[in-house]
Amino acid sequence: MSHIEASWTSYLTTFDDQLDDLKARFAEDEFIEFPDFGPREVREALDREIVGLLDKHGLKRRINVSRTGGTPRFMEVVGRNPIAEESELIPGTYHSAALRSFLAEITKAGEILPVPFTPEEMVISRLTEIGETHGWHWDDYSYAFVWIVEGPAPEDGGALEYVRDTAWNKEDPRVEEVLAGGRVERRHPATGSAYLLKADTALHRVAPLAREGARRVILCFSYASPGEMDKAVDHTEVDFYSA
Ligand SMILES: [Fe+2]
Repeated sequence: MSHIEASWTSYLTTFDDQLDDLKARFAEDEFIEFPDFGPREVREALDREIVGLLDKHGLKRRINVSRTGGTPRFMEVVGRNPIAEESELIPGTYHSAALRSFLAEITKAGEILPVPFTPEEMVISRLTEIGETHGWHWDDYSYAFVWIVEGPAPEDGGALEYVRDTAWNKEDPRVEEVLAGGRVERRHPATGSAYLLKADTALHRVAPLAREGARRVILCFSYASPGEMDKAVDHTEVDFYSA
């Protein structure tokens, strides 16, 4: 077993007596935040690598995405390839059997799998200016597991907002209609936390930053459930994350 896998295996046993509660909370909200997630040294290294990758490979994007109804992506990103090429810890954590089986318990998904299209496995993003936002969208695969390296204070914008139990019609997304007909949940996952979201059936966004000096820095892991391994997916938006 690699040292990365050994760290996660031993850390995740600390949740054993909370699993029933975590499962119930995820079933209720289709979202769950894990405060201060990860063994301290591993988490510090992970956060350091994420910021290092942004400083070296970050691409500022300012586009509107037609297949989500023209919603904005105003943010800095690092796509999967530089992460996979330069980090051992981040891909080791993404593929960790211990982490995936922990998430499978909580979601009751049976199994949590790396997505069948590698460019969508993971992405880093950083928002640093007023108005920067990852606009309304649905994910292609079931689960997003997001590491908050830096989370803005609730009054500074940058909240995760989502409308659960909504379906993505890619030809005609009608985002405004879905928003008008649903209830927007708002969450403020804190620095050092990680959260899990049922991301293919929740219309979600990172609200625009609202204060000078506020920042939001994250690493997002995308995971599939067993039924999605052969799903046909239009990957047009993936170009957005690479040079
Ligand atoms: Fe997403």
